[in-house]
Amino acid sequence: MAASHRPVLLEEAVSALQVQEDAIVVDATFGGGGHARRVLDEMGPGGTVVGVDRDPQAAGRARDLLSDERFNFVAGPFDEVLWEMVDRGERADAVLFDLGLSSFQIDDPGRGFSYVTEGPLDMRMDPASGISAAEYLNEVEVADLIGTLVQYGDVPRGEARRVAREVVRRRPLSTTTELHDAVRAAVGWRERGGNPAKRIFQAVRVRVNDELGSVRRALEATEHLLVPGGRLVAITFHSGEDRLVKRFVSEREGRCVCPPELPVCVCGASPIFRRGAVLRPSEDEVRENPRSASARLRSATRTAEPSGDA
Ligand SMILES: C[S@@+](CC[C@H](N)C(=O)[O-])C[C@H]1O[C@@H](n2cnc3c(N)ncnc32)[C@H](O)[C@@H]1O
Repeated sequence: MAASHRPVLLEEAVSALQVQEDAIVVDATFGGGGHARRVLDEMGPGGTVVGVDRDPQAAGRARDLLSDERFNFVAGPFDEVLWEMVDRGERADAVLFDLGLSSFQIDDPGRGFSYVTEGPLDMRMDPASGISAAEYLNEVEVADLIGTLVQYGDVPRGEARRVAREVVRRRPLSTTTELHDAVRAAVGWRERGGNPAKRIFQAVRVRVNDELGSVRRALEATEHLLVPGGRLVAITFHSGEDRLVKRFVSEREGRCVCPPELPVCVCGASPIFRRGAVLRPSEDEVRENPRSASARLRSATRTAEPSGDA
């Protein structure tokens, strides 16, 4: 297992969260706590960090922080945890999502996320919940699998079709090597463009963990949870996640549709969020941590407008 996870866009994320002395900050993706620890350093004795993770191993990595009374850890899927906070009437000054997997998860062959090392075809962030990648792949209809590969892995449709048919032909699959071999037989080996198994594994993982559904529901919760002026910060690692965050914010920007000749707005445009700049890792960060290469940080500020369904 990896000894550590290097937090991506650490300084940029902490600065985008605009942490105040006595802020309440939710780190919805605790992982190894790289971002949470830095946020705690930034705030005063009256601040609070709520760390959330659905991976049971993350709770163990949070243990040393529990002696800091400003820190709480909540185990569970972030969409459920954030909606529970909303239902209890709690508020937050900032919410951070650092999406995807930690190096602890990727580098542990026993979790089944890696196409480089052999392991059981599991891929669940919480191995006690939902169905494993093997159960999914051994049951799924070809058409559904093609849809998963196209939608969640941006796999070209022809390639997705070949891989899906090969997977079905080789069933039952039980190890990551078997899935990797199926991809290799279906797509062959490319000199350029990287290992095609990367996108296939990503797509299956996103599907098995309902990652996009979970992010969508969690973003909806932040609309209710954040105080006016509160900050939403999301670091994404693939286009599906990034599109989702971008669309969520742009749908709530309440762009004025008044004719340009009108001196004041009369259409009642009322933004719920105002978007910030999109940040990418520096060349130095990518060189030091190649896993940061696809990262994008999007941020938005909650306005005082009531939420859409308030
Ligand atoms: C990229 S890592 C976060 C790393 C962390 N920021 C750090 O610096 O150590 C993503 C973490 O989010 C967790 N995660 C992903 N989706 C989740 C969800 N829907 N609910 C709760 N945790 C989730 C994963 O289990 C993983 O530990």
